[in-house]
Amino acid sequence: MNRHRRVLVTGGAGFIGSHLSDAILKHGFEVTILDNLHTGIRGQVPAGADFIEGDVRDSDAVARAFETEPEIVCHLAGQASIRLAWADPSADLAVNVEGTLRILAACREHRVPRLLYASSMTVYGNPDEIPTSEDAPARPVAHYGITKFAAERYVHLAADDPEHPLAVTSFRMFNVFGPRQRLDNPYQGVLAIFLGNVLRGEAVTIHSDGEQSRDFVFVGDVCRAWIEAIDNQSTFGRVFNLGSGRPTTVNTLCDTVLGLCGLDRSNHPVHHEPAQPGDIRRAAADVSAIQETLGWQPKISLEEGLEPTVAWARHAAERR
Ligand SMILES: NC(=O)c1ccc[n+]([C@@H]2O[C@H](COP(=O)([O-])OP(=O)(O)OC[C@H]3O[C@@H](n4cnc5c(N)ncnc54)[C@H](O)[C@@H]3O)[C@@H](O)[C@H]2O)c1
Repeated sequence: MNRHRRVLVTGGAGFIGSHLSDAILKHGFEVTILDNLHTGIRGQVPAGADFIEGDVRDSDAVARAFETEPEIVCHLAGQASIRLAWADPSADLAVNVEGTLRILAACREHRVPRLLYASSMTVYGNPDEIPTSEDAPARPVAHYGITKFAAERYVHLAADDPEHPLAVTSFRMFNVFGPRQRLDNPYQGVLAIFLGNVLRGEAVTIHSDGEQSRDFVFVGDVCRAWIEAIDNQSTFGRVFNLGSGRPTTVNTLCDTVLGLCGLDRSNHPVHHEPAQPGDIRRAAADVSAIQETLGWQPKISLEEGLEPTVAWARHAAERR
């Protein structure tokens, strides 16, 4: 049914983007991936996808991607680290905001009718209410949250252009986890950082007292929401949280990861260090909007999703 309908996935060599590309191909679409391999991995690009190595800030690379005539754009390419954004806010701004503007300009030029955007729960900062709904004010407390919110607003502003109708949907994803999340990148993804530490026999470092909470959502559940939204008009113009709705403290996460590797704090070192700038104290998604609109529910709990994640991570560690 989707034959000859092409989806451009920016960031499709990365963690979420590669899973999404797999899922889109399974749904019968054709896929083009644009990725500069900054954190993405060439080997993660699905065999059935056309791959263009290039930067979303580079108009020539973007033009080549749009020459493949996508009907739908899933824009996930981005700088995804709160830490690195803090260290170099200009670089974060360039990739996340200017890169998004470049993609939006190409959508306009090539009259692409549909775009879905990878936004983030960091737009909320430290929200007054947990679980947090999409109506909560955006008060990001880190550069990364500011650029994700700015890009989200540019996306939704582009949808209002009367000259070029563009149906947009943004997903404010919470802590996505699963296989392929890099274990060797100390700057993004607390779960993968802990897992990498434990599998390499390194001490785990918890910033703050460990009682800060995060909402972990399995990558397969996230991809299902993106896919179901592509042609669903009731998602057009909307912003949705994607999370499990369940807060998990970083202490619990650490103990769970240790436990799955047959360890605990008595036989594996766990250190505490001060909180890092931009850290959020509590996070959990109110997912009633996407439940009502798409009938979407997360199906895989943290415990269920950790099993294949740890199995993949062990395998990946052995192959290195
Ligand atoms: N992982 C999460 O929990 C989470 C939560 C909310 C939002 N997001 C957003 O989802 C998207 C994907 O995140 P991820 O976790 O898969 O991270 P990732 O680092 O694995 O994926 C990002 C991809 O974008 C590519 N990329 C980076 N800069 C680029 C550029 N200038 N031009 C072209 N490609 C570029 C990278 O090489 C990588 O393949 C990001 O936009 C991130 O901000 C992620």
